[in-house]
Amino acid sequence: LVLVVDFGAQYAQLIARRVREANVYSEVVPHTVTAAEIAARKPKAVILSGGPQSVYAPGAPQVDPALFETGVATFGICYGFQAMARALGGDVARTGISEFGRTSAHIGTPGTLLADLPSPLRVWMSHGDSVAAAPAGFTALASSEGAPIAAFEDAGRGFAGVQWHPEVLHTQAGQKVLEQFLFDIAGCRPDWTAANIVDDAVAAVREQVGDKQVICGLSGGVDSAVAAALVQRAVGDQLTCVFVDHGLLREGEAEQVKRDFVAATGVDLVVVDAADQFVGALAGVTDPETKRKIIGREFIRTFEAAARDITRSADDVEFLVQGTLYPDVVESGGGEGAANIKSHHNVGGLPDDLQFALVEPLRTLFKDEVRAVGAQLGLPAEIVWRHPFPGPGLGIRIIGEVTRERLTILQQADAIARAELTAAGLDRDVWQFPVVLLADVRSVGVQGDGRTYGHPVVLRPVSSEDAMTADWSRLPYEVLEKISTRITNEVREVNRVVLDITSKPPGTIEWE
Ligand code: XMP
Repeated sequence: LVLVVDFGAQYAQLIARRVREANVYSEVVPHTVTAAEIAARKPKAVILSGGPQSVYAPGAPQVDPALFETGVATFGICYGFQAMARALGGDVARTGISEFGRTSAHIGTPGTLLADLPSPLRVWMSHGDSVAAAPAGFTALASSEGAPIAAFEDAGRGFAGVQWHPEVLHTQAGQKVLEQFLFDIAGCRPDWTAANIVDDAVAAVREQVGDKQVICGLSGGVDSAVAAALVQRAVGDQLTCVFVDHGLLREGEAEQVKRDFVAATGVDLVVVDAADQFVGALAGVTDPETKRKIIGREFIRTFEAAARDITRSADDVEFLVQGTLYPDVVESGGGEGAANIKSHHNVGGLPDDLQFALVEPLRTLFKDEVRAVGAQLGLPAEIVWRHPFPGPGLGIRIIGEVTRERLTILQQADAIARAELTAAGLDRDVWQFPVVLLADVRSVGVQGDGRTYGHPVVLRPVSSEDAMTADWSRLPYEVLEKISTRITNEVREVNRVVLDITSKPPGTIEWE
């Protein structure tokens, strides 16, 4: 276990991910934890993250000096580096030279931390203050224009630090520096692998669930699929999955859940075909928020009815599986207890008399780890590498009223866009590729000898790390051309294809 102490910058989660990429398990803790609390968890190492403030700012978070007496190896990054220097008796000063962004670090003495690295090293910095004198017992390893001491170590005591951000991709050899700390200074072992994650999660689910029954709502997305597959691996047919087919899925997706997911996992699946109910409830509705509310309400209703049927036929159903991921846990304060509910697909609105304890087997995992676990469990690549898809589905990608006919048009256009993206080998370069039908807009076109008066579709490929911000993907023109030609040739009613080149912000990823 490696604990990343979060000093309030956005980097702590990224550091934890990088540590896990080195196959070492890592968690984020707030900077308010005491040295005793840290020691009680028996970490192999602690990493102090960057933070937005100066160590001298009033109220700036400090490191508990007792941490350095616990014998736990510690690595300071940026603010954590300075806080460490200060706590151990070094000197942190304002040099007058701030460094933001790309900087060169000159390695004087490589030591253990910077062994076998080129010098100068291209690094990413973001600081005003600098370490002017290393604490007693430390060796200064590197410097930059604005940081007389940009890296130091006391390998004997397991202490090291860098002024730059090794966790960001722009930093050269960042992962190597982190790994040299983890393996060569702190003595960590790389045993956090997909196989071990599965073994641990299976054991934990068995322990929690015992011989009780469990239900799980499948959305077709990767999180709920992997969560269900893990629980299935742990408790077999004590698990019943419910899949509400709301008719707003993409072409072939419902079949994939019904056929491929069941084939890969052997889960006991209850499919509720509720397409008529959803499309009926959406008749005449054009307002985006109203659509979302209706879809959410119908979903809860349908899931609840299915859950009641299951609990009626077996009276020891006590658990509900949720695909909560680690970033949600960290962002909601990291505490135990109820997961924060983001959308109706987390089935948050179940009535009080239907109470379940939550099983959250992905609670400690990042998205990339969820995918690795899914592959380890033998789920097909189409499920493991599926792009995120909103709970309300195509209902919020038809601008205007949702009808069966419009759903079919959009499904066809969307299937072509997806197929061509896959054929071009670009699935993993794109975060998500919504196709949006402007159902209330018509434009004039010409096809063959005739005038057409059809609808436009919008292509909305985006790249993103977490969907909070996004940029439009620069897809190759040939791929865009192929998609456009095929859609206008093959999809009746669509005579124009346009590309959305808005980043988020100001645009959102979805149009509604
Ligand atoms: P926006 O459009 O807000 O979307 O930029 C951000 C991400 O969230 C997805 N999304 C949803 N996911 N239920 C979900 O499960 C929803 O109601 C919902 N709305 C948007 C969207 O696809 C993107 O990945």
